[in-house]
Amino acid sequence: GLIRKPAAFISTISDERGQELLYAGMRISDVFKENIGVGGVVSLLWFKRRLPEYATKFIEMVLMLTADHGPAVSGAMNTIVASRAGKDLISSLASGLLTIGSRFGGALDEAASMFSSAYDRGLTPREFVDEARRANKLSNLFSHLTTPTVSGIGHKIKSVNNPDLRVELVKEFVRKNFPTHTLLDYALAVEKVTTSKKDTLILNVDGCIAVCFVDLLRDSGAFTREEAEEYTKIGTLNGLFVLGRSIGFIGHHLDQKRLKAPLYRHPADDIFIEMNEISQQRILG
Ligand code: ACO
Ligand code: LMR
Repeated sequence: GLIRKPAAFISTISDERGQELLYAGMRISDVFKENIGVGGVVSLLWFKRRLPEYATKFIEMVLMLTADHGPAVSGAMNTIVASRAGKDLISSLASGLLTIGSRFGGALDEAASMFSSAYDRGLTPREFVDEARRANKLSNLFSHLTTPTVSGIGHKIKSVNNPDLRVELVKEFVRKNFPTHTLLDYALAVEKVTTSKKDTLILNVDGCIAVCFVDLLRDSGAFTREEAEEYTKIGTLNGLFVLGRSIGFIGHHLDQKRLKAPLYRHPADDIFIEMNEISQQRILG
């Protein structure tokens, strides 16, 4: 009989070979007939299943409230500088996206993992924070790549006295619509401990979205426990911020082009240059 050539790769989320495009088995015409929205499309293409309406609404809320946070944040600045250097949309967007990481916008998966592991091991919020501080001190002894103490905690400008309204909106939605919010409650107890040290050590927007998403993965009934664990290990939650903030970065690129902004050069008086003369002499021999 016929011997099928082994496939070069396997794909399980979409299929365009038939008459109609399928997203995780759902016809594109049904996507619109059933009005599943962007949240529904994310559910199909990221999780390969329909999620309850509160979950798809939550995904949409996250995309909307992470869409932008002004021109001064790392990623928007990179986008703007690249755009003003004459780069195209994709290059400027990529330049912004490349700043997303453990300090800015990309703390979600690590926050999910740290908070859920501490909760599952029965640590009190105080024990969790102390353990994270000890681990952080130790790892910083051996590496120049300093990692945050508790991912999902801390903000440059937001604080207990200047709360982040995005975080308030997420908490309100989750308390009203989620069947449970165990990890959110735990994270808020952790925030009480960290803000007693410094009032900017709040549960930030990355941290809040992350713990709420763990609550969703664990308690929506749509995932097994193993699936819920896996999704926090493969970058899913940072994907939410990346997708949301791309809206803002594209906006900043278009804005600079519209403004016909010239090449940016940082003011020299804003840079402190310290050079070692000895190294110059060494080079001269
Ligand atoms: N957990 C515990 N302690 C912290 C944390 C944290 N996450 N962040 C800062 N601190 C402590 C520092 O150890 C320092 O203590 P010290 O004064 O005793 O030395 C003090 O707070 C000030 O630290 P800075 O690094 O100066 O804080 P900064 O305001 O510059 O940092 C930042 C803000 C980068 C967000 C930081 O809090 C952090 O790394 N947080 C974790 C990563 C994270 O969640 N990033 C996402 C932010 S939200 C977003 O980007 C959309
Ligand atoms: C953001 O959403 O970009 C931030 O919360 C980071 C910041 O410094 O505002």
